[in-house]
Amino acid sequence: MQLPVHLIEEELRIFEKKFKEAASSHVSMLDRIMRYIVKRKGKQLRPMFVFLSAKLCGEVNESTYRAASLVELLHTATLVHDDVVDDSLERRGFFSIYALWKNKVSVLVGDYLLAKGLLLSLDNNDFRILQILSNAVRKMSEGELLQMEKSRSLNLDEGVYFEIIQNKTASLLSSACGAGAWSVAQDENLTQKLMSFGEKVGIAFQIKDDLFDYAPNNVGKPTGNDIKEKKLTLPLIYTLNKVDKGERKKLIYIIKNENKNKKKVQYILDAVVANNGIKYTEDKMLQYKHEALDILDTFPQSEIKSGFIQLVNYVTDRKY
Ligand code: IPE
Ligand code: IPE
Ligand code: MG
Ligand code: MG
Repeated sequence: MQLPVHLIEEELRIFEKKFKEAASSHVSMLDRIMRYIVKRKGKQLRPMFVFLSAKLCGEVNESTYRAASLVELLHTATLVHDDVVDDSLERRGFFSIYALWKNKVSVLVGDYLLAKGLLLSLDNNDFRILQILSNAVRKMSEGELLQMEKSRSLNLDEGVYFEIIQNKTASLLSSACGAGAWSVAQDENLTQKLMSFGEKVGIAFQIKDDLFDYAPNNVGKPTGNDIKEKKLTLPLIYTLNKVDKGERKKLIYIIKNENKNKKKVQYILDAVVANNGIKYTEDKMLQYKHEALDILDTFPQSEIKSGFIQLVNYVTDRKY
């Protein structure tokens, strides 16, 4: 399981430099936090999707680089905010901004990253790209809020789960691919095609992330956090729909009232495994991956296409 970085090595190197510049500030506290963020960078998968989409559809140019920076700035902003929302103290193998600087600073840092992204596009007249990405930001907020609403009522079916993850995660990956394509081709049909592809990958991506929460492995952020936050994800939704009424009541009771009791939460985890919730979820994830690969398959054979297939496989096979 390898990332196709050799195909976009030069692009990623230049991107990192530009991203660092875009995330700097003259306010010393903010600049310190920005340097902390740049140093503890993530996998940078979204810029990879931007560059491969661009290379699949044409030649990388300056607006492609700006699109990659914009996407990563927005992604970082939402992670900083998400850790406040999820009360989560670990990110990328270290303390989250929320853990170190708390609520007030995290809210402002997230806003700052968002504003820097918007300005990067506006200052260069990248209007279509900004439109594509702003739509994703709107959907991400809607997705996170819908998730919060459902954490209170606890009545969600698979349809709502997919609506949530489509909004909060797949929209950004979809936009990353669309922006990459637009930056080189300015072709609406091609952009839409890459966006549909990115959306499928994004759904598979979030399903994988939700599976991490059920695994005991170190993934650089807390696991077991979803039940603690009353976040029902596919393994549990499937299980709740499968068990009999009495068992369902018991599980819901634990989620509502005993979700911070380790032993009780283990009871839920055991029920999920016993009812094939993990297996079912993995199958769904692969289904979306294959739908994504089917779209890629409509492109002629090339080195970039093979690299893209590798990246899609990484999304579902990754260890963190
Ligand atoms: C984490 O995304 C947020 C989700 C949408 C699940 P990544 O796993 O891509 O985060 P980093 O950037 O590599 O840390
Ligand atoms: C994805 O959801 C977060 C965003 C889209 C911002 P999660 O809450 O599951 O992401 P992690 O697990 O904290 O990275
Ligand atoms: Mg979270
Ligand atoms: Mg998660």
